Amino acid sequence: MRSPLVVGNWKMNGTLVEVSSLAGAIAKELKKKPSKASLVLAPPATALVQLNQKIRRSEISLAAQNCHWQDSGAFTGEVSPLMLRDIGCMYVIVGHSERRHIFHETDEMIAKKLVAAIKNKLRPILCVGETLAEREDGLATKVITRQLRIALKQLARNDIRNVEVAYEPIWAIGTGHNAEPKQITEIHGRIRRFLADSFGQSNAKRVRVLYGGSVKPENSNDLAKTSEVDGLLVGGASLKAETFIPVIRCFDSHG
Ligand code: PGA
Repeated sequence: MRSPLVVGNWKMNGTLVEVSSLAGAIAKELKKKPSKASLVLAPPATALVQLNQKIRRSEISLAAQNCHWQDSGAFTGEVSPLMLRDIGCMYVIVGHSERRHIFHETDEMIAKKLVAAIKNKLRPILCVGETLAEREDGLATKVITRQLRIALKQLARNDIRNVEVAYEPIWAIGTGHNAEPKQITEIHGRIRRFLADSFGQSNAKRVRVLYGGSVKPENSNDLAKTSEVDGLLVGGASLKAETFIPVIRCFDSHG
């Protein structure tokens, strides 16, 4: 019932020429042989307009990596969800751990961004995850439940159907060490239970829960097979077609 989703988060990488050629290579490959997973690309904001033109005739969707919560106003340096929708974005990543930790985004700010994204018909990809210290102290579930509770508190019951949740343990991001399937299944199960308790079983069933953190061709097949994993959020390995294509295809051979 939930079709797999793969998201490439290119973070602050790539000139226009580089980003465009990478997207072109991926689109060409998927045109030759479509993948079972839907693909979303999240390039740097500077490339969104051009990439939208480039992938217009493909099945690929476009995501922004962040947004503000107001439609317009005196917020120097920010981009609004209204503007993102205007240039063809379908998704927006919200609450990535780099935004939380480097740019001090709070759960309350993330809650406002989610509401604003949905109002503007963007699908938010809400990132949650614990630090290594929190995991070692046995606090992983508690931290993730808090992140979900505050971020989603303003959403109406049906709105949750337009949200994707990504579990990204911070200790696994960019470290080369992914979380173990057992750890992922446990947290994803908790996330799903939280969603069912808060938004009702039938709404919760529709929400895709993605895993992110050091996803690469060497581990993506096992991750795709992992129970409760509906998709992947990929950073480093999405920056090269040779490593990203096998990851996109990892769901092709799984039921
Ligand atoms: P990574 O990043 O795949 O390089 O670990 C994932 C992310 O930050 O979304």
